[in-house]
Amino acid sequence: MNDKKRILVTCALPYANGPVHIGHLAGVYVPADIYVRYLRMRGKDVLYVCGSDEHGVPITIKAREQGCSPQDIVDRYHKIIKDSFSGLGINFDIYGRTSSRVHEEGASEFFRKLYEQGKFITRESEQYYDPEAKTFLADRYIVGTCPKCGNEGAYGDQCEKCGSTLSPEELINPHSKLSGATPQKRKTTHWYLPLQDYEQWLRDWILEGHKEWRSNVYGQVKSWLDGGLQPRAVTRDLDWGVPVPVEGAEGKVLYVWFDAPIGYISNTRELLPQSWEKWWKSEETRLVHFIGKDNIVFHCIVFPSMLKAYGDGYILPDNVPANEFLNLEGDKISTSRGWAVWAHEYLEQFPGNEDVIRYTLTANAPETKDNDFSWKDFQARNNSELVAIFGNFVNRAVVLTHKYFGGKVPACGELLDIDKEVVAAIPALKASMEKNLEGYRFRDALKDAMGIARLGNKYISDTEPWKVAKTDMERTATILNISLQICADLSVAFEPFTPFAAGRLRKMLGVELDAGFDHRRGEQQTVNTFAEGEGRAIHTVHEGDTVSRSGLVLDWELLGRPQILPAGHAIGEPELLFEKIDDAQIDAQTARLEAIRAERIAREKAEEAKKVAPQKEECSFEDFEKMDIRTATVLAAERVPKTDKLLKLSIDTGIDKRTIVSGIAEYYAPEDMVGKQICILANLKPRVIRGIESRGMILMAKQGDGKMRFITPQEVLGNGSQVG
Ligand code: MF3
Ligand code: ZN
Repeated sequence: MNDKKRILVTCALPYANGPVHIGHLAGVYVPADIYVRYLRMRGKDVLYVCGSDEHGVPITIKAREQGCSPQDIVDRYHKIIKDSFSGLGINFDIYGRTSSRVHEEGASEFFRKLYEQGKFITRESEQYYDPEAKTFLADRYIVGTCPKCGNEGAYGDQCEKCGSTLSPEELINPHSKLSGATPQKRKTTHWYLPLQDYEQWLRDWILEGHKEWRSNVYGQVKSWLDGGLQPRAVTRDLDWGVPVPVEGAEGKVLYVWFDAPIGYISNTRELLPQSWEKWWKSEETRLVHFIGKDNIVFHCIVFPSMLKAYGDGYILPDNVPANEFLNLEGDKISTSRGWAVWAHEYLEQFPGNEDVIRYTLTANAPETKDNDFSWKDFQARNNSELVAIFGNFVNRAVVLTHKYFGGKVPACGELLDIDKEVVAAIPALKASMEKNLEGYRFRDALKDAMGIARLGNKYISDTEPWKVAKTDMERTATILNISLQICADLSVAFEPFTPFAAGRLRKMLGVELDAGFDHRRGEQQTVNTFAEGEGRAIHTVHEGDTVSRSGLVLDWELLGRPQILPAGHAIGEPELLFEKIDDAQIDAQTARLEAIRAERIAREKAEEAKKVAPQKEECSFEDFEKMDIRTATVLAAERVPKTDKLLKLSIDTGIDKRTIVSGIAEYYAPEDMVGKQICILANLKPRVIRGIESRGMILMAKQGDGKMRFITPQEVLGNGSQVG
């Protein structure tokens, strides 16, 4: 392991304009939590920092929509998000806010120093201005029709319907979201960080120095650098955010992506006002940013350039293990459409199953590519992995120990080959877990942990202690001793992934865990002695006072060692580690999503139907006159054999009786056509279709969604009446 003294782990600060969902959890927070728990078990000094990102235009839009202040919005979601994290066992040392005092001061000071050192350039540009609301408009505040797909609610930066990136100039009929007025262009001045000045430095640092970064991260950085960096605006015309702390900047705030990453630093300062600098400015600290892939440029290019510009010893990330995206039941997660599983709702609907979502999201983590979450898979992972393998094994070992040995760990006798094999397999799985966890491959690490549970479950099934007990108590003792040692291993191995179950398991086994230094409580647990068969003593240092407890304290080093539970040690009562999730619970979830999907499809269809093709090029009256369009009646109709689309129609045109082959079989059955009056283009050059000479064409109207109907006069007319 990279052996720096301290590890600073940050998680992307979620926007406080909505609750967090499984995409956020899988992408950022669950992997970070696994990593932190693991490092702490290994005795590392870890600081785990997150908080709400409370600035930015979307928050102001939401406030306007709901008729409240931006502060009301962020207060509401800050609490919901914070509670969701702690409900899932994601316990940051600090969960701060970018609307805090400390942050406002920190971000201002950061800007001012860069400003004073001449690190910015200014540029005048034309921006959209709302003449009625008397304010500049962020791109998001401008709505209009998407030039690509016709969506009337497209934003000036993006069309959420077709996913195109747009600029306000491209919108058809642009108008202000605030007042409805047509935006005007006005001049405004902003500060920019000239990123191009940092390009070579970024190349050396990342492209040369961090080839070990995930290929998705490295690749994105490389393509940004290869594309050439541009000055990036760090201020905005907006009334929500950190005011730009220089003269002549009235009505301007720091751009949210300038202030938010500084939030990592502010939150550290808030927690540790005296000692925060050792976390940010010491070569003895290793910094790791957990983020989603949409944040890569900000964490690998913009924020590092800001820190570099600032100087003063700020460290740079050692790694940025960004994940790809998680989809839900095959479709992109969309908060505006309700296509998401919200963390706070999950916690209400699946009480006691905090681990199951952590487990499923890790098993399906979008580490190297986008991945999918489905409720069926969630249920299967719970019922056939957590319950049937891990839980079942533990339950058998604990229950049988109570049944045959009065709840005390029985002595281990002579080992048979089957025992030796299972004991020998665990250190290898542990070593693999270490490599995977330290390489940010959490899915693989979870597979290793599950591998230990599988071994245990197979071992107890193969050795059948419940049968052996009828004849050989000594052998039964050995089997259960080994099984309980594996249970103890699992209570450590699963701590990063399913901490609630790991805790329940330790309680059942009558052991504790050395989970490392906790900066929230200002408390450090240290462990010193371990003697085989005696366990360890735990010393808790709290604000200078040492409180010693003795007991069985496990930690990562003990995982896979022989006899970590001494014979005679009293275990606790059996308890279910996991419970089955039944079909009704899953069906309720899928029904909710299906209803949303059905509604979306219906809406999309209705919108499709409304779409019109653009007008064709002009034609002259003479061009039109050339076409001989007439009324006619269908006398007979039949399908053209071996085709899906074609009907052969006999037509009375008033001039003659003739055959027309028409591609309308998808829309009309032959019997629907017979006797109908239609319009035809009579003088279309004859064509042979499937061996049949077709003379003329039936006029059809085609709707945006492709639906077609023939054209018929409003009242029956004589056949051969001319249309024009
Ligand atoms: N709020 C941003 C998002 O959800 C993440 C901000 S990360 C920080 O995409 F570095 F800026 F804090
Ligand atoms: Zn569009």
